[in-house]
Amino acid sequence: MAQPLPVHDDLSDFAAAVRNGLAQPQKVIPARFFYDHAGSELFEAITALPEYYPTRTEIGILTEQAPAIAAAVGPGRAVIEFGSGSSAKTPLLLRAIAPAAYVPVDISAEFLHLAAAGLAADFPGLPVVPVAADFTRPFRVPAGIAALPRLGFFPGSTLGNLAPAAAVDLLRGFAATLGADSWLVIGIDLAPGPAKPQAMLEAAYDDAQGITAAFNANLLHRVNRELGGDIDVAGFVHRAVWNANLGRIEMHLVARRDMVFRAAGCDFSMASGESIHTENSYKWTLEQAWLLARAAGWTPAAVWTDADARFSLHLWQRGAGVMQP
Ligand SMILES: C[S@@+](CC[C@H](N)C(=O)[O-])C[C@H]1O[C@@H](n2cnc3c(N)ncnc32)[C@H](O)[C@@H]1O
Repeated sequence: MAQPLPVHDDLSDFAAAVRNGLAQPQKVIPARFFYDHAGSELFEAITALPEYYPTRTEIGILTEQAPAIAAAVGPGRAVIEFGSGSSAKTPLLLRAIAPAAYVPVDISAEFLHLAAAGLAADFPGLPVVPVAADFTRPFRVPAGIAALPRLGFFPGSTLGNLAPAAAVDLLRGFAATLGADSWLVIGIDLAPGPAKPQAMLEAAYDDAQGITAAFNANLLHRVNRELGGDIDVAGFVHRAVWNANLGRIEMHLVARRDMVFRAAGCDFSMASGESIHTENSYKWTLEQAWLLARAAGWTPAAVWTDADARFSLHLWQRGAGVMQP
């Protein structure tokens, strides 16, 4: 396996985000900071929960549709996976398409390198080149990959963590990273429907075993560990609610009582009932997903859902069918 690129150290980003976010009238810490090693492990545990339908539903669609994806994109591509996590879904794609290389990209560096090593062992002969980076910022595509035609892979509905304008910016950035003649396979969780009531959505983000609550609380543990915080994490309760107006699940950490604490070199106070907003998970209709693609310079080539229309998998092509003015 080739050597990974230098790890992007985001400690100062984290400190700045916590300082700025906790100074807002609605306190906020962006969701990308969930993913230290403990956060990545907790997310893996979430994917196995009975309430968390997205992972098993997306795996079902990908298993069925991998041959169609392979027929469209052809062999010999470098697969660049954005937010690869454990790379658990990746073999389904790699086995179907005869790739030339695999580049997992994730902000959770240690977890990324472990997952990449595991995948490399399962695919002897395939160059596997992990890149520890924030995919919302430009990053260097490893030497040796740059000349290959590319296929982006963005499963897990991670796109849903971004508000619409930022989602379009991200997809535009992916188009630039992937280059001309590229394709993108992207998983997008769907808006509530007949077989997907609001209660099912909320349960997926507030499970009976409290794993999602622990994932949410880990963000405060991370502030304490990395930014010299003295937050009483037990003083917060996890809340997940569907915001119908904005089409998103919101996760919050709600203060159980008035409190003061120190974090990232600053003092903060919170009133009982006040929350820190930690994650949005936008849910899209198929029509909205189509518009996101077009707004970002992608042309939808195919879309598949499960029988209950809970989750969708999309195949988009870079720039195809765009009429030059
Ligand atoms: C919702 S999980 C999805 C994981 C996996 N792709 C799946 O389908 O189960 C989001 C993944 O994206 C990574 N991630 C989140 N924000 C990121 C960012 N800004 N840059 C790079 N990776 C990010 C996380 O570390 C995590 O592995």
